[in-house]
Amino acid sequence: MAARQEDAVTPVQQSDEEWECPERSLDECQGEYIQHVMNRKMERRAFLTGAAVAGAAFTVTPALVEPAHADGSYRYRRRDPGNRLTFKTVPPGNNADIVVPLGYDYNVVIRWGDPLFPGMPEFDVDHQTPEDAARQFGFNNDLVLWYPLPHWVRNTIRRHGRLRPIQEFFLGLFLPGLQQRSSKYALMAINHEYTTGRQMFRDYVGNLPGNSAEQAKQRRIEIENHGLSVIEVKKRRNGKTRFVRNSPFNRRITGTTPIEIRGPLRGHELLRTAADPTGTMVDGMFNNCAGGRTPWGTVLTCEENFDQYFGNNDDNPDAESKALSARVPGRGGASGRRWEETDPRFDLSKNPREYNRFGYIVEIDMYNPDSVPMKRTAMGRFKHEGASVAIAKSGQVAVYSGDDARFEYVYKFVSKGRYHAGSRLANGDLLDEGTLYVAQFNVGDTPEDDRGIGKWLPLDIDDPVSGPLLMTAGFSSQAEVLINTRGAADALMATPMDRPEDVEVSPVDGRVIITLTNNSRRTEPNEANPRINNQHGHLVELFEDDDDFAATTFTWDIFVKCGNPALPNNEQDTKYGELSNEEALAAGVSPISDVDNIVWDDDGNLWISTDGQFFSDGVGFGQNDGVFAVPVAGRDRGVLRQFLSGVPGCEICGPEFSGDQRTFFCAPQHPHDPRSGDPGSAFEPKEPDGTPLPRWPVGETQISKPSLIAVRHLRGRKIGR
Ligand code: FEO
Ligand code: CA
Ligand code: CA
Ligand code: CA
Repeated sequence: MAARQEDAVTPVQQSDEEWECPERSLDECQGEYIQHVMNRKMERRAFLTGAAVAGAAFTVTPALVEPAHADGSYRYRRRDPGNRLTFKTVPPGNNADIVVPLGYDYNVVIRWGDPLFPGMPEFDVDHQTPEDAARQFGFNNDLVLWYPLPHWVRNTIRRHGRLRPIQEFFLGLFLPGLQQRSSKYALMAINHEYTTGRQMFRDYVGNLPGNSAEQAKQRRIEIENHGLSVIEVKKRRNGKTRFVRNSPFNRRITGTTPIEIRGPLRGHELLRTAADPTGTMVDGMFNNCAGGRTPWGTVLTCEENFDQYFGNNDDNPDAESKALSARVPGRGGASGRRWEETDPRFDLSKNPREYNRFGYIVEIDMYNPDSVPMKRTAMGRFKHEGASVAIAKSGQVAVYSGDDARFEYVYKFVSKGRYHAGSRLANGDLLDEGTLYVAQFNVGDTPEDDRGIGKWLPLDIDDPVSGPLLMTAGFSSQAEVLINTRGAADALMATPMDRPEDVEVSPVDGRVIITLTNNSRRTEPNEANPRINNQHGHLVELFEDDDDFAATTFTWDIFVKCGNPALPNNEQDTKYGELSNEEALAAGVSPISDVDNIVWDDDGNLWISTDGQFFSDGVGFGQNDGVFAVPVAGRDRGVLRQFLSGVPGCEICGPEFSGDQRTFFCAPQHPHDPRSGDPGSAFEPKEPDGTPLPRWPVGETQISKPSLIAVRHLRGRKIGR
């Protein structure tokens, strides 16, 4: 989701805090907002060309790091012969199409609306239905994960629909190894985070008061466009990846798919509704953002900004639910999409406890197309982002997750049970019981050295230290702790962070990287979040004590402070590893802002995608979002360089590699969204002066579409090398 917002409904929440919409309704603000965006785009142009802007509302920053090569790529000086990241740096820019390094190309694998099943009509933006949407690739793809698909698994499912127990055993045994290898066929999990009606319908009326047939239809189409797709892909001989439409693995989880509630909150009174008096089944999942993969072949997909889907026209009469959601408050009045006018389950004044059934990590089995998704309530309820899995020395499973809002926290769950390689079924309920921790980052021996020590504080009402603190804060049960996780973390004095987004554990050395995307409201720094008015975000690395993922203490370090290092006197206070600013510039680092999703390659290099560089909190960063790669160890630690540049108005999601590292996947989300930098729309992308821009993907005739792309080296090399 666009970096400037915690919500995705009105433009003021979407992309730019400086611009204030006087009304709640997007329609009432649209014209004014577009003018605002056009002004910004003119300023951006001037910024990129180095021209002055008379009367600009903010200071235009000088030119970025100058390219040194004739082909426009940046200079780059490798200092570490062991560093295999040798791709030519992509310069920051505003191209109409994706830019990849010299020697690479990309193809579109699947795009919004593509039918997932044989016999369906091709997508037509002017003839959408809820029924079709539930069987098409959904909107605004975020999480992207790749899973190997061995021939014997593929053939068995095609013939028999499910695996026999002995086959489940061998799949579980071999999966971790297969995950690192080439696979002609593969499965992919791709989230559909949220919808933007104006970018989906020519005449969007779903967000207006009323419940006409057209409004109800649009709302139901939006609901079905949420969730997740599982798709089968095939790698061709030429290295390109294509979607396999007739695969029995293809499936959609949407906003209406039955999902089982598991873990400590299953059946709890506060999760019971009139439609589900048992409190065990819920329809759908919403706002699924970054997530993670388990070694037993499931995807963990995280509900993030679930609050935006609920209206509350008569004010919530359920005081208990309201109190427990005080730290993720539902809205008063209408929601931005007004689904509650078509489906009363989204109206908190009628169904207050429906709200308690969202904000969880959902687990879905990739290899069983008939499996029921599970909401794993033991991992708490907040705006989950990322679910990175690591196996502790004891065999317990650790799951790291951020809570993406300003001044929120970083969490870790440690299972009670142990991981059993070779038993997919035995691992099935591992995430239903364990301890949820929240991180406290403390100053180490030397204050203000951007590194320190830390503790994982157990959010456990039975813990001898945490329990009294939680009870003093008013918690009376562990269920309340899990429903009101943020409130419990407050009571334990966790460290408020600058919007924790993705969290990932390195498969090479076990370091944990946390992306902090930005926080322009920070006025009081702490050592782990050292910049007031943090416009560009930073990366924190965390090392568990004794290299044990079940440890309750850790050390930490600030790895990168984002921004443009080429400004005079390094005025944005950037940091690239331990390089001095002169060394960083000499090595050829790229400017970067608004770090969001991350993934590791098999050399232990970190790959980062960004969300919101164009606006970057109004300071005029001005470049399309992109993908960057950086070594975290060795002499080139901190030499962060741009690998890919997106299209106007989109953020880049994913990122992900195939097992053999020869395909790189990412998902440009909301291309040409006016709230993220294009003054036109997905239907008619425009330059500020009205000049039409091509729709994306290139060749689209109706509308620009969120899509999944695959990048390859033209000679089949590993990506980046
Ligand atoms: Fe959905 Fe925090 O990005
Ligand atoms: Ca995002
Ligand atoms: Ca994100
Ligand atoms: Ca990730």
